[in-house]
Amino acid sequence: MGNEKNIPTHIAIIMDGNGRWAKSKGKERFEGHIEGVVSVKACIKAARKRGVRYLTLYAFSTENWGRPQAEVDALMQLFCKSVTKETPELIEQGVRVQIIGRRDRFSEEVRERLLHIEESTKEGDKLTLVLAFDYSSRDELVRATRTVADKVQRGELRAEEINDAVISAHLDTAGIPDPDLIIRTSGECRLSNFLLWQASYAEMYFPQTMWPDFREEEFDKALEIYALRERRYGLL
Ligand code: FPP
Repeated sequence: MGNEKNIPTHIAIIMDGNGRWAKSKGKERFEGHIEGVVSVKACIKAARKRGVRYLTLYAFSTENWGRPQAEVDALMQLFCKSVTKETPELIEQGVRVQIIGRRDRFSEEVRERLLHIEESTKEGDKLTLVLAFDYSSRDELVRATRTVADKVQRGELRAEEINDAVISAHLDTAGIPDPDLIIRTSGECRLSNFLLWQASYAEMYFPQTMWPDFREEEFDKALEIYALRERRYGLL
């Protein structure tokens, strides 16, 4: 839930439009992803400055494996490079990184780098940066359901004890508050399998801006729009 200044506690972003941004400038798609990393850094800084406590970024979906192999490889390299390069600054800024999504389909190198960034930033207490890698909401819900069913089968949990809190505690986002604001850039108005359970009461904002152009000013505009929304959580 947002705090008293109406700053959202948790913002989740679907970073969309890198390819279209690149095309509009006569560049290769990959250059859009590189510029997208600059926006990632700008938004982390802005979130920290404004007092947002959790920032979730949809970096790679379970469906993104279906892109041309060259783009998948280039994205993996970009993640590894950026994550390694930025780790010291993230530690310095008090940013804790948490990864959500599957781990079993990454190369050993990517898996190790993800573990390393989580481990080395775990003391960060200013902002939690949640990176969704090989993530989709249905996949997360299926994995959580299997774990819960397993517990029931082993007699550790009774079926009638399963409630909202039990489901939430078995998701990858266990312990992370639900997002107050979900942003998808590039004008697309869909959630595309992102945080479906957690988005129940989130405000939605769909700016036309392509992700590589979504910098501090755009971030602040999203905060302004959020501050004007009235959230009722099903009440009057
Ligand atoms: C969507 O644009 C973007 C992605 C699938 C990749 C997003 C990744 C980054 C910005 C790099 C993030 C890096 C870190 C370390 C978190 P698109 O390719 O779908 O664009 P299009 O819809 O215009 O084709």
